[in-house]
Amino acid sequence: MIVVAETRIEVELTPNALRVLEKRYLRRDENGEIIETSDEMFRRVAKAIASIETSYDLKTDVIQIAEEFYQAMANLEFLPNSPTLLNAGLENGQLASCFVLPVEDSIESTFDTLKHTAIIHKNGGGTGFNFSKIRPKLDKAGGRQGVASGPVGLIDVIATAADYIRQGGVRRGCNSVVLNVDHPDILEFIKAKNDPDALTNFYISVAVTDDFMARVKARADYPLVNPRNKQVVGTLNAYDVFELIVDQAWRTGDPGFIFLDRINRDNPTPELGNIDMITGCGEQAMLPYESCPLGSINLSRMIQFNDGASAIDYAKLGRTVELGVRFLDDVIDASAYPADIIEQATKRTRRIGLGVMGFADMLFQMSIPYSSEAAETTAMEIMGFIQKHAYEASIRLGTKRGSFPAFRGSVFDLPGASPMRNAARTTVAPTGTLSIIAGCSCGIEPLFSVAFVRHMLDGERLLDVNAHFETAVRRSGQWNAGLLQRLVRCNHLHEQADVPESIRRVFVTAHQVPPEWHIRIQSAFQENVDAAVSKTVNFPNRATRDDIARVFFMAHEHGLKGITIYRDASRELQPQCTGQLG
Ligand code: CDP
Repeated sequence: MIVVAETRIEVELTPNALRVLEKRYLRRDENGEIIETSDEMFRRVAKAIASIETSYDLKTDVIQIAEEFYQAMANLEFLPNSPTLLNAGLENGQLASCFVLPVEDSIESTFDTLKHTAIIHKNGGGTGFNFSKIRPKLDKAGGRQGVASGPVGLIDVIATAADYIRQGGVRRGCNSVVLNVDHPDILEFIKAKNDPDALTNFYISVAVTDDFMARVKARADYPLVNPRNKQVVGTLNAYDVFELIVDQAWRTGDPGFIFLDRINRDNPTPELGNIDMITGCGEQAMLPYESCPLGSINLSRMIQFNDGASAIDYAKLGRTVELGVRFLDDVIDASAYPADIIEQATKRTRRIGLGVMGFADMLFQMSIPYSSEAAETTAMEIMGFIQKHAYEASIRLGTKRGSFPAFRGSVFDLPGASPMRNAARTTVAPTGTLSIIAGCSCGIEPLFSVAFVRHMLDGERLLDVNAHFETAVRRSGQWNAGLLQRLVRCNHLHEQADVPESIRRVFVTAHQVPPEWHIRIQSAFQENVDAAVSKTVNFPNRATRDDIARVFFMAHEHGLKGITIYRDASRELQPQCTGQLG
């Protein structure tokens, strides 16, 4: 047997990454003193995840696998979601980020869901719910007419409970709440976030079908159905409802949409039921009680430079995808679960969510502006490559470890088909905190700004200057202290005449990216992603309601599974889940 020596990588953490790790991730003793370094954290995670492999094959060289996992994390090439970094190797460590929970129309089930939510949040996860099974407000309950509180009343209960819980004692968990457009309480739901203090850390979305979108275009009516007895209790005009959603989204950013037919076209296990829920920040649409571990490849570290030219290092990317799939499949077994029913649902389909971060940084290194056809093609190519390799890696794992238990009747169950380990493999997560640790741009978002002050949750302010931007300007000989100050103050790179035009053209930031380009890039990724893509389409403050309506239609036509928008300064506090606080 070859003995693999443990290497020690000099982890290149930025000062901001170190602060985040020290505040939230590194283990502490009872007195609150930090007792591990970031290097030891990566080692702890690598060992805990690799060690479960012996349950499949006693001969597995756990030390070798742990070393590979460690190197990918310590080199900031691949990072698992926050709960894995926090909890791996600890007793009862819950390792997945995202969960969806059913909300049935009974007190017992509602309070079970509340309990599961509390445990999931405490351990660093986020939750998604669909409230459409709840009987409408003032419906019959307990044998009496006019007493039911309805979905919005129930959402308030969950919000109040969730408010008490801080993940790992620090941040608050994200929730995604969905209501189908044909629920009788839909109008109240659409306005649920009218009060700026209501439902912070809740994303709300209206679930619609293709039929509903067609009725919006035709300005036709549609029926409202009471879920308790399936009776039609009224009609609304689809266009009026759409306009109300647009108006509300223009005012506050919520609600967004989720597109049910599109989501279910990609449902890998239709025999287990239809999907109508999405997770906290929208990256996974899943069946009741499913959870999914996420992991993200840092694209800004998948670039090779040759004679001054840059290109994607596909050999390295392929190796990282293979490792990421294996790592995340291991996480499913290494994790503890908040309830048996969640463990069973998760292990039945073995969904994993391998995604990317640092896309904008990758484009900078390749001198490609975010809002360009070249960026769209790059998105398509790179995610297409990841999709194909993740699929093949999951087949290889399936050959060794067996297919996911619900394979029979799934879309993979075809004559002569190969085994498949994971019912879904790819996603794009927001990577709000992971991207700070990795020192790269968030998920597939454009950069918020090339230089800005990041407001941390505890009120601390940290200066964040994009390293690729700094290198490019320094190389041009134009770097000066005044430039940094101007950028932090007004945030408009395109107005800085001392920065060469070639740099200003490439380093476009969120506010300069037209909303249509946000959709085009999201759609280019979605094309090659099994689950969903988490993204916020940013609008300037001057955007009109028509601009937003156009983008909602475009999202549906481009085959997105959901859409979230944000109009600059429409809310005092921007969503805390994105990590892009500026
Ligand atoms: O970067 P990190 O791993 O911390 O998380 P993310 O990629 O920004 O978010 C992934 C998932 O974590 C979200 O869909 C939520 O389910 C959950 N999350 C949460 O519950 N609370 C937060 N404050 C952030 C994320």
